[in-house]
Amino acid sequence: MTIASSSSQAGIIQRDSAWWQSAVGYQIYPASFADSNGDGIGDIPGIIAKLDHLADLGIGFIWLSPVYASPMVDNGYDISDYRAINPIFGTMADMDRLITEARARRIGIVMDLVVNHTSDQHPWFRAARADRGSPYRDYYIWRDQPPGKGTPADIEASFGGSAWSRDSKSGDWYFHLFAPQQPDLNWTNPALRAEVHAMMNWWLDKGVSGFRMDVIDLIGKQPENGIVADGPELHRYLREMHEATLAGRDAVTVGEAWSATPQNAPLYSAPDRHEVSMVFQFGHVTQFWDEKLGKWKPKPIDWPRLKSTFATWQGALHGTGWNSLFWGNHDLPRAVSRYGDEGKHRVASAKALATILHLMEGTPYIYQGEEIGMTNAGFTRIDQYRDVETLNFHRIQLAEGVDEAAFLAGARANSRDNARTPMQWSGAANAGFTQGTPWISVNANYPSLNVERDRADPDGVFQLYRRLIALRRDHAVIRHGDFRLLLPDHPALVAYQRRLGSETLLVIANMSRQAVNLPPSGISAIHGRDILTGRRVSMQPGGKFEPYETVAIWL
Ligand code: NOJ
Ligand code: CA
Repeated sequence: MTIASSSSQAGIIQRDSAWWQSAVGYQIYPASFADSNGDGIGDIPGIIAKLDHLADLGIGFIWLSPVYASPMVDNGYDISDYRAINPIFGTMADMDRLITEARARRIGIVMDLVVNHTSDQHPWFRAARADRGSPYRDYYIWRDQPPGKGTPADIEASFGGSAWSRDSKSGDWYFHLFAPQQPDLNWTNPALRAEVHAMMNWWLDKGVSGFRMDVIDLIGKQPENGIVADGPELHRYLREMHEATLAGRDAVTVGEAWSATPQNAPLYSAPDRHEVSMVFQFGHVTQFWDEKLGKWKPKPIDWPRLKSTFATWQGALHGTGWNSLFWGNHDLPRAVSRYGDEGKHRVASAKALATILHLMEGTPYIYQGEEIGMTNAGFTRIDQYRDVETLNFHRIQLAEGVDEAAFLAGARANSRDNARTPMQWSGAANAGFTQGTPWISVNANYPSLNVERDRADPDGVFQLYRRLIALRRDHAVIRHGDFRLLLPDHPALVAYQRRLGSETLLVIANMSRQAVNLPPSGISAIHGRDILTGRRVSMQPGGKFEPYETVAIWL
């Protein structure tokens, strides 16, 4: 898919090379987006019915979380057939219709490629465990020693417990970095790699616009050497994959890489390396997790640290690779709850967050509901949660002596289910998400926080996102300008400058609940028209910024 982009600004050098550098992505978590048949689970026909909402927003592509056949142990990130659609989400005919209907609105579909592991119900794993002599045996990773005995040392799974589980059939141990029902694939096997390439080509030939690659930095693992992320063969596999599938196609690819650093990220996304378009990196997320208890004991957001992280990434990939920009996804809490204020300043803080993110360099991603400022779930009891990770760690941390109230406070802040409550479409029953009983509770705030209401408000969150998306399309300086962080030590003001040729854009936002004054030095007087609201801004050093007030002007 090609989306032409051009700058409306005179005198700007045309530096655009790819459609996805001017496009904005939108993530759909299918189970929680829109239910068309009243079974309480979102589905593909439900997505099709809402495409106009996304077209109005102006997005360029949808990252579709998995809809493949799956026993749903990890909500579809455990795939049992890469070429079939899970009947709870619809049929392959529905999927084809989604691709066509989205394309008619100039929206690409980006599939979630989960090839670090399969489901234990995948025919490859069934064959592998049934017969040690099967050619599929070597598609997975086996050992005959229990963990802790012999080499190598034990490795922990992301969802808790050992990454080695015993297969009751053969008595051997197999490797899984997530749930035991998600056995890891053995990427050292060329036949396995060829199967993955063929499957990717099959989807590309169907007309999808690219892939989001689940935990792609793990495929080069060497468990026998204790290496999990960023293994020595990782980039060779990615280049081989590119050559076999993406070369010559105009697709977008984004690799999920929790291990990516500003130093190694260009290895993935430098155009001349032919690997992926960009990676999702998580520096801004994990820097506020506890050293021991991780996400279950989050630290408060420290804006100077967060700003410095963004500045580092902006600098590291400018001209050497490409950034992805995001606050949230289906694994993370809601942006406004985590980084803004979900109470009194919900709308203002949601808009400020959108502005500071979308005016940086990179491809921004919106997670469903973020465009109306949806908030965390607010669950107070463990029985409200559905997520395998949350349920596992509840058991594990309580057994280790963590107080239940403390765990629940952590889950309330950071559980993946915060992002998985149903999309709030209207004030109707169940937020208009379903006619039936939703698989996970709808957030109680839906009567006042929903798409219908927010869209009708010219000062709402949706209209601001819409404007930001249009601005990115229209201005090369937003897509490609260089980035300079201003006021790096200010505790509340996020301020930066983007510059390309003779154009300079200045962005300032007060990311706190208190009014603050522009410091006497660092930024001189600001005069101009705000590019988002059209209001006139005239401010001297010392001038006052209201809570979450945002200014973006041409200098
Ligand atoms: C990352 C995905 O985003 C997450 O939801 C999933 O549980 C793991 N990878 C395993 O596939
Ligand atoms: Ca349904």
